[in-house]
Amino acid sequence: MSRLYLRKANIKDVPSIHYLLIKYSREGLLLPRSYNELYNHLRDFFVLTGHEEQGVVGCSSLTITWENLAEIRSLIVDKCAQRQGWGSRLVETCLSEALTLGVYRVFTLTYQLEFFRKLNFTEVDKDSLPQKVWADCLHCPKYPDLCDEVAMISEL
Ligand SMILES: CC(C)(COP(=O)(O)OP(=O)(O)OC[C@H]1O[C@@H](n2cnc3c(N)ncnc32)[C@H](O)[C@@H]1OP(=O)(O)O)[C@@H](O)C(=O)NCCC(=O)NCCS
Repeated sequence: MSRLYLRKANIKDVPSIHYLLIKYSREGLLLPRSYNELYNHLRDFFVLTGHEEQGVVGCSSLTITWENLAEIRSLIVDKCAQRQGWGSRLVETCLSEALTLGVYRVFTLTYQLEFFRKLNFTEVDKDSLPQKVWADCLHCPKYPDLCDEVAMISEL
């Protein structure tokens, strides 16, 4: 695999981000997002990319939820680039942006507990998060009784 690098997403990345989200949502690991939502939230996104033909092989997004609270969503490193530290770098880039914005609590809803524990996230009761967090969950087929994602938070 050629050299990869992280950067802010641009408008041309949307189809690749959409494709990655569909691919990993089929494995039940995260929720897909519509083109409409991706265009609306494009400024939240970072991408991991190689040379032109290779395109986007990873992404993450940081969405501000409320005062002093933001969420890491849509975190993916495609299989070809996993276990090389890129997932950690994508999360750290989001955390760094949160700090720049003056937001000191960052949470995620995830099945990847070990991965996030290594990045100093700790498990919290989902009910301790503001109700606004559940706005997206309302569209999820697993909501509410089948939801088994774990809420994890990092206090910066
Ligand atoms: C989770 C994911 C982003 C991790 O990306 P990655 O680039 O492989 O992660 P890193 O290489 O930065 O790994 C960092 C550490 O976490 C560990 N780790 C990574 N994925 C792990 C997993 N699934 N289970 C346990 N540990 C894991 C690594 O071994 C590494 O440990 P080390 O520092 O002791 O060597 C990636 O596996 C992925 O995209 N999975 C599919 C989509 C998904 O589940 N996204 C998360 C939605 S919240």
